[in-house]
Amino acid sequence: MTSHFINRKKASDHMTNKMAEQDVAAQGYLKSTLYIGLAIFVGYFCLKKHINRFRLRLFAWVLAKFGCKSNKLFGEHKKKLFHSMKELRATIGPLNVLEIGVGGGANFKFYPPQTKVTCLDPNPYFESYTESNAADTRGVEMTGFIQAYAEKMDGVRDCSFDVVVSTLVLCSVKDQNRVLEEVKRVLKHNGKFYFLDHVCAPKQSIIYFFQCLMSPLWRVIGDGCELTRDTGSTVKAAGFKLLDMRTFTAQTKMFLIRPCCMGIATKE
Ligand SMILES: C[S@@+](CC[C@H](N)C(=O)[O-])C[C@H]1O[C@@H](n2cnc3c(N)ncnc32)[C@H](O)[C@@H]1O
Repeated sequence: MTSHFINRKKASDHMTNKMAEQDVAAQGYLKSTLYIGLAIFVGYFCLKKHINRFRLRLFAWVLAKFGCKSNKLFGEHKKKLFHSMKELRATIGPLNVLEIGVGGGANFKFYPPQTKVTCLDPNPYFESYTESNAADTRGVEMTGFIQAYAEKMDGVRDCSFDVVVSTLVLCSVKDQNRVLEEVKRVLKHNGKFYFLDHVCAPKQSIIYFFQCLMSPLWRVIGDGCELTRDTGSTVKAAGFKLLDMRTFTAQTKMFLIRPCCMGIATKE
C-alpha cells in the first residue's frame, strides 16, 4: 500500500517536473519568436529604403533585359500601331515624342528616323538602359529622362509634344484619368496619343474570373500592374477629338493578359 503511494507520488512529481520543463520551453519559444519578429519589424523599417531601391533596380534590370520578350509578345502589334508615325513625320517633320513609362526603351526601334524622344518613368534606374538603347537605335535621339509619375508631369510644358506614347503603362498607373488629363495638357494642338495595353476580359468570361482571382498576386509581382482595367473605355471617355482604337488578342500562354487594346487618340 505504502509503496503504491510512493510510486504514485513519484509519478505525479515526474509529471509536474515535465510540465514545468514544457512551460520553460514554451516561454523560450515565445520569447525567441517575439525577438525574431521584432528584429524583422525593426530591420524592415531601417532597411525599407534600401529594399525599395533594390526592388526598383531589380525591376529595371529584369525589364531591360527581358523587355525584348514583351516585344516578342506585342512587337507585331506595336509595329502596326507605330506605322502611322512615319506618315506623321512626313507631314510635320521630325517628331518630338514623350514616352511615358518608357521602361528600358523597348519602343525606340519602332520610331521613324530623326525622332527626338523624351523619356519619363518614376523608376530612375531605367535611365542608363534607355540611354544605351537610344545610342544603339539609329534615328532616335534621346533628349532627356524625367523621373516622374505620368499623373503629375510638372517638368513638362503645356502643348510641347507632337506625340505621347504609352505601352503597357496604363495598366500600372495609379490614376488613369489624371494621366490622360496630363497627356492632353502636354500634347500640341492635333497631337497624337499612341497607346497599347492589356485590358480586362468580358465580365462574364472565365478569363475575367481568373483575372479577378489573380489580381492581388499579379499586382505584387508586376509592380502595381492591374489585370481588370477597362482602359479602352477610359480613353474613350477622356475627351480626345478623335479616337482610332481596336481590340486584339495577344498570342501568349499567359492568358490573363491576352485581351488587349491599342489605338491613337488625337487632341482637340
Ligand atoms: C510593363 S513596363 C512597360 C515598359 C515599356 N513601355 C514597354 O512597352 O516595354 C511599365 C512601365 O511603367 C512605369 N510606370 C509605372 N507606374 C507609372 C506611372 N504612374 N507613371 C509613369 N510610368 C509608370 C514602370 O516604371 C515601367 O517602366
